[in-house]
Amino acid sequence: MKIVAIVGSIRKESYNRKLAEYVQKRYQAKMDIEVLNIKDLPMFSEDIENDPPSEVKQFRGKVAEADAVLWVTPEYNYSISGVLKNAIDWLSRGDKVLIGKPSWIMGASMGALGTARAQGHLRDILFSPGVSSPLLPGNEVYVGAVHEKIDAAGNLTHEPTVKFLDTVVDNFIQWFNRQSQLMKQ
Ligand code: FNR
Repeated sequence: MKIVAIVGSIRKESYNRKLAEYVQKRYQAKMDIEVLNIKDLPMFSEDIENDPPSEVKQFRGKVAEADAVLWVTPEYNYSISGVLKNAIDWLSRGDKVLIGKPSWIMGASMGALGTARAQGHLRDILFSPGVSSPLLPGNEVYVGAVHEKIDAAGNLTHEPTVKFLDTVVDNFIQWFNRQSQLMKQ
């Protein structure tokens, strides 16, 4: 299964990027995850949407080729970051490559709620007509106090979180396979 991870932080030392890379490494026998870079996407404008820059074409192409999308979101002012919304806006136009593409969500913050509010907003956005991405129900991965749960090498050191991730990954694979069966019917 080929998955693209879209991380909503472009910060060099982003915890969310570290979380995405940890998931990529830990579950590599079960899924092939490519962590995409949204740093170089221009700001979306309808003026350029019909002939977008090459960064946008490449980004859309990678999402189109993937079987599923893993969203790894920070929380900015109780919502998703501007860069993540911008990336979704690009994907929601043109070939609308997210329509029907299965998704799942994770997020990490230093606060206690682990991006719960941002993830609620992201769920709403994924439901919009131009996005329409079926989302893994339940399995809400809120990694709070992330700075205490990850070491300098980017490994999650908090055993309950790792165990929960193990369960979520298996649940995602089962749900994805069921979705694929339904699509074939
Ligand atoms: C934050 N942060 C934050 N945290 C949170 O739990 N709820 C929030 O609403 C906000 N709001 C917010 C706004 C802005 C503009 C910034 C820069 C930060 C803190 C945020 O969770 C923290 O910086 C994370 O480390 C960001 O994720 P990355 O970059 O580590 O992946």
